[in-house]
Amino acid sequence: MSATDSPPATSIPKLSREQIEAYWLPYTGNRQFKDDPRIVVQADGCYYTDDKGRKVFDGLSGLWTCGAGHNRAEINEAVSKQLKQLDFAPSFQYGHPLAFELANKIVEVMPEGLDHVFFTNSGSESTDTATKIARGYWRQRGRPEKTRIIGRIKGYHGASWGAISFGGVGANRKLWGQGMESDHLPHTMLKENTFTRGMPGHGAYLADDLEELVALHDASNIAAVIVEPLAGSAGVIPPPEGYLPRLRKICDKHNILLIFDEVITAFGRMGAWTGSDAFGAVPDIIGTAKQLTNGIIPMGAVIVKGEIYGAFMDAGGPDYAIELPHGYTYSGHPVACAAALATLDILHKDKLIERVAEMAPVFEEALHSLRGSNRYILDIRNYGLAGALTIEHVPGEPALRPFQIAMKCWEKGFYVRYGGDTIQLGLPFIVSREEIDAVINVLGESIDELT
Ligand SMILES: Cc1ncc(COP(=O)(O)O)c(C=O)c1O
Repeated sequence: MSATDSPPATSIPKLSREQIEAYWLPYTGNRQFKDDPRIVVQADGCYYTDDKGRKVFDGLSGLWTCGAGHNRAEINEAVSKQLKQLDFAPSFQYGHPLAFELANKIVEVMPEGLDHVFFTNSGSESTDTATKIARGYWRQRGRPEKTRIIGRIKGYHGASWGAISFGGVGANRKLWGQGMESDHLPHTMLKENTFTRGMPGHGAYLADDLEELVALHDASNIAAVIVEPLAGSAGVIPPPEGYLPRLRKICDKHNILLIFDEVITAFGRMGAWTGSDAFGAVPDIIGTAKQLTNGIIPMGAVIVKGEIYGAFMDAGGPDYAIELPHGYTYSGHPVACAAALATLDILHKDKLIERVAEMAPVFEEALHSLRGSNRYILDIRNYGLAGALTIEHVPGEPALRPFQIAMKCWEKGFYVRYGGDTIQLGLPFIVSREEIDAVINVLGESIDELT
């Protein structure tokens, strides 16, 4: 499970204010950042090294991406070998062996029946692809009026037009005006579930709100429902027990496709290969990205049921005609495929899915030990190696305290995520018990230091 040794980043010159001005950082307070930049120059195992030479524990596995740890020799070697063999291949009208091999390997770990894979380069593209396939499917089945996509409040599906339309994080929507035709289920964060360990007991009934939306729009106009099995970016919200199976049932009743956005939950973080497996509900389409290549090369994959693929193949027209006029220049990029195959191999060989399941209770115990330790901690949630705290907010400034906490952690050598009124952790699958204790202690200390 060891990472390769990498040379120390001793000769990285410090960037001046002028040098950092041109880069417009995504989802970042650029003015604050440029006054006080946080720059990493190297990564190995569970740690970054910053430009001051400090080791910083990676409490979010990159951006929920690098569960197997940074700088994995097997992935690095696969990538470098692939670069020398086939650096690029057109994905439109031509193929290369690794894309077929990877599609088969992905299908092996997906829920039964999800057996065709469309490659993308990111989670946002997976959202767009999944929802386009859903709408196209109904058209191919002679139901072109089924176009509306139902998301969920607090859902995050990426930054594309489709993703922000179906997503339910207000802050990500308010600047842009009208998006795509959508509507939203209520979120599942209930007061009576605060401080629940794992899946909360209350809230399965919230799936019934889909019946209300069906009554409003009529199922004849709804193509699909898209939800994250566990809402990640809004602050690690595990589904209430029974909620996802109930949603599945209502979708079936009304002929609505169910899409799981598994960009965070697929490939191990839940202690299972998918959130679908972890939470006991099988969707029609799964969108993935992030952990697929252990974060080292952008890649996503959308996996669909055979019947959905079949609807496009059976639609008629000559064999040479394009069935799905959709795709990306870099879909199934050979170097990304090499990284993904090596990643899947590591997940199997090192039994990292089992390891997440084994470490999840240790993490749960440590994270929940913060309960009652500080009055600002309003809630703690966790599942697998994902966890979050809700922090009582300063009136009018929901994100201030989490930002302050994350900055204190950073100063102490720990990277954690702040988002809205939450602090989020997505620990590497290779994390040790000592590292879990260390990150939780530092988090607790940093919250205690708030004035
Ligand atoms: C559940 C989910 N879907 C989609 C995305 C978007 O992924 P990307 O940033 O790769 O477009 C994210 C990113 O955090 C995510 O968490």
